[in-house]
Amino acid sequence: MNFRTSDQPLAREIRRRRTFAIISHPDAGKTTLTEKLLLFGGAIQLAGTVKARKSGRFAASDWMAVEQQRGISVSSSVMQFEYQGHVINLLDTPGHQDFSEDTYRVLTAVDAALMVIDAAKGVEAQTIRLLEVCRLRNTPIITFINKLDREVRDPVELLDEIESVLNIRCAPITWPVGMGKSFRGVFHLLHDEMHRFRPGEGHHHAKVEAVKGIDDPVLDAHYPMEVVPLRSEVELVRGACEPFEHAAYLRGEQSPVFFGSAINNFGVRELLQSVIAWAPPPQPRNGGVRQIEALEPAFSGFVFKIQANMDPRHRDRIAFLRICSGRLTPETRVTQVRTARQFKIPHPLIFMANERTVLEEAVAGDVIGIHNHGQFHIGDTLTEGEPLAFKGIPYFAPELFMRARLKDPLKAKQLNNALKELGEEGAIQVFQLSQGGPPVLGAVGQLQFEIVSHRLQAEYGVPALFEPVNVRAARWVRAPDRKALREFEKGNPARLAADVDGNPVFLAESNAILQLTGERWPDIALRETREHGERLHDGA
Ligand code: G4P
Repeated sequence: MNFRTSDQPLAREIRRRRTFAIISHPDAGKTTLTEKLLLFGGAIQLAGTVKARKSGRFAASDWMAVEQQRGISVSSSVMQFEYQGHVINLLDTPGHQDFSEDTYRVLTAVDAALMVIDAAKGVEAQTIRLLEVCRLRNTPIITFINKLDREVRDPVELLDEIESVLNIRCAPITWPVGMGKSFRGVFHLLHDEMHRFRPGEGHHHAKVEAVKGIDDPVLDAHYPMEVVPLRSEVELVRGACEPFEHAAYLRGEQSPVFFGSAINNFGVRELLQSVIAWAPPPQPRNGGVRQIEALEPAFSGFVFKIQANMDPRHRDRIAFLRICSGRLTPETRVTQVRTARQFKIPHPLIFMANERTVLEEAVAGDVIGIHNHGQFHIGDTLTEGEPLAFKGIPYFAPELFMRARLKDPLKAKQLNNALKELGEEGAIQVFQLSQGGPPVLGAVGQLQFEIVSHRLQAEYGVPALFEPVNVRAARWVRAPDRKALREFEKGNPARLAADVDGNPVFLAESNAILQLTGERWPDIALRETREHGERLHDGA
């Protein structure tokens, strides 16, 4: 069957999409780079807009206040802009490790990633974790080694570290000339040109010297001090590193590497140009029953994130949907596969740096926002009727557990509703014990509890305290059939709970219990992850 569209304008629109996320360890320069990319795309006019958002000068909602206090980015969003005939969807990922679950989900919605590394620090913990997720899906990665305007580590050593620690082959595209106070620019290994750096000049003045090749005498005249080591380094790099191979990049095996300084807007344009030239257009996705091609005419997509209070004036929740195929307009009749409900999405939103606009048409590759009053869950598949179920949106077993205790006991119902909503949104995992009682809350990081506590008070008006609970591990229970599941439940009544979608979960007070239970019930799988939208026992 040929699912490809004969709708040429649609195909053209889809092919010019580039959807990617920037990943980095906190402080490597992700926010700064995002801002420079948006400036190039004309999406913002003023430097400082994104940083201001981050530092709190810009946003004033209660929700953002948590971000301000912490100085970290806990909300992630998407920004769309045009650049050189392409439509870029740039997804922001929260950098703090407590929010890695959220970050993982964002990475399921992109076709490529841009990895920022602080040249003074090299590969850091969070970069390793994020890269592991990218590797699971063979996401193509472009690397930007940032902060060359500072005293940093030897570039050869940095490449070695990326290759050995992250297990990805490096293909340098530019090569730095000096660093810190004596940073002179980069030599473009593919174009054989020298890009001159002058602090504060930015991209408007970043001059490309009239150089033809590394042996050009112009280099000797302009860079008398640097030219000798530069030549030997370039010779070494060309000899030792493998040349850039587009196919290897697309397979996620090789990463083209750029050096620069985000804050000085140096090397950023080359990066953006490489994204549009090399990053793949919207890729096929595993739709559960079959592979979905982006160019298929019928609309399909999945919800990968739900975010509260993006706009203090609206106090609403937004479900973020990655479109996987076809086109979505306000007229498209959409089916939510989980509930079989049909509806139109009258006001799909598209996000610029700090504003949202209502969209007339979105196509495969785009990420849109939909107002959510609780009807969407993470992992929901939307189609024009076909019963697909997009795969690969993970839930991770939480590692920290708490129980919420109300300050006002009369608000039990409100608390349960609030926790249900926060659970569906993925802010925290909520487990209802089969024997009743207050739910157990699970998180990957401590900060999640603090955010949830803040939101319970600020958004739902139910102040609650968090108390320790005697749970150390949670595992999703997968039984070969209903009978086996019932027996397992009967044998472990006090340790059984249900997650937000009603899936059975085993809560263990120690790893020893977990291990013993595994040994005693060999037919029962105790899983550390589950897919969003996956019903573990439907039809079992
Ligand atoms: P993040 O989103 O990855 O956490 O990093 P962010 O962009 O906030 O950058 C972290 C710090 O690194 C910031 O300094 C930023 O100005 C600085 N930075 C980013 N790119 C470069 C660069 O190319 N060269 C140099 N020298 N510094 C860079 P800060 O002091 O934490 O914040 P701020 O006071 O500058 O806002």
